[in-house]
Amino acid sequence: MTSYHGQSFLEVSDYSKDEITDLLRHAQNVKNKLSDQPDYALQPSGKSLALLFFEPSTRTRTSFEMAAFRMGLRTINLEAGRSSTTKGETIFDTAQTIEANRPSAIVIRHYGSGVPFQISQHIKIPVINAGDGFHAHPTQALLDLFTIQQKKGEDIKGLRVLIVGDIAHSRVTRSNVKLLKMFGAEVEVCAPPTLIPPCTEEWGVKVTDNLDQALGRADVVMALRMQLERQRSYQVPSLGEYTSRFGITTERLSLINEEAVIMHPGPVNRGIEMTSAVIRDPRCVILNQVNNGMVVRAALLSRILGIEI
Ligand code: CP
Repeated sequence: MTSYHGQSFLEVSDYSKDEITDLLRHAQNVKNKLSDQPDYALQPSGKSLALLFFEPSTRTRTSFEMAAFRMGLRTINLEAGRSSTTKGETIFDTAQTIEANRPSAIVIRHYGSGVPFQISQHIKIPVINAGDGFHAHPTQALLDLFTIQQKKGEDIKGLRVLIVGDIAHSRVTRSNVKLLKMFGAEVEVCAPPTLIPPCTEEWGVKVTDNLDQALGRADVVMALRMQLERQRSYQVPSLGEYTSRFGITTERLSLINEEAVIMHPGPVNRGIEMTSAVIRDPRCVILNQVNNGMVVRAALLSRILGIEI
């Protein structure tokens, strides 16, 4: 029995480095199995997974769906816009209603920070956080660490990771900082001061607004999406001005180490956070991140639901 079995998965800091290492080694087994047998899928087991997405998603949602298929799970999808929350039902009543149909676990993405945790207090089946507000995106952090380890080796102590972009509104950053620091990486964040939240001081990261200098010292460059839908008003003078100072532009490629890894959790605003030439650069691993997302989520589902692969 692992520490994941039958438990909710809400944030990476709920687990120790050893527990995360165990999960990511298990993910490597899943990845090996899928590369040997690309059509690998367990027979339907009678177990099921409810997917509740109250925000748009391409990567997280499809990867959970594919991961569930690989693990022999049936999925039940609830569209937020078609759910009875639009008629006034609370999210907690919705969650209890879904639970009454007896799925094995619930995956939830919600715009409200803390909603997956609160739901986990209302229902008995495992709740998996697929991203909540600005707060956390723990499975993204797992797949990012897994991708970095594939490129740089399992021991990332002292690795210099630069996260550039809309730090203020980024749940990806919050989960990644916790996990990368747990594994001994040195994290630096780069953004205009208006997109650096005050809590950054507690994170134990370096802060800069000089991207050109920061790129030269990074082993990993992780660009973030400008989350215009979350910004109260533009927190930069213009997107063009933002890109000129904080975008991974084609001209800046030469500032990035030859051995460095360039990442983005997606979705990318091409031409704002990075150009098409950067996405085509051999150092850029965005699609590896997507594939690893399915792998890591399959590993997590197998641990939580006790499925042998
Ligand atoms: N990275 C990420 O969460 O992407 P989606 O919003 O497409 O799921």
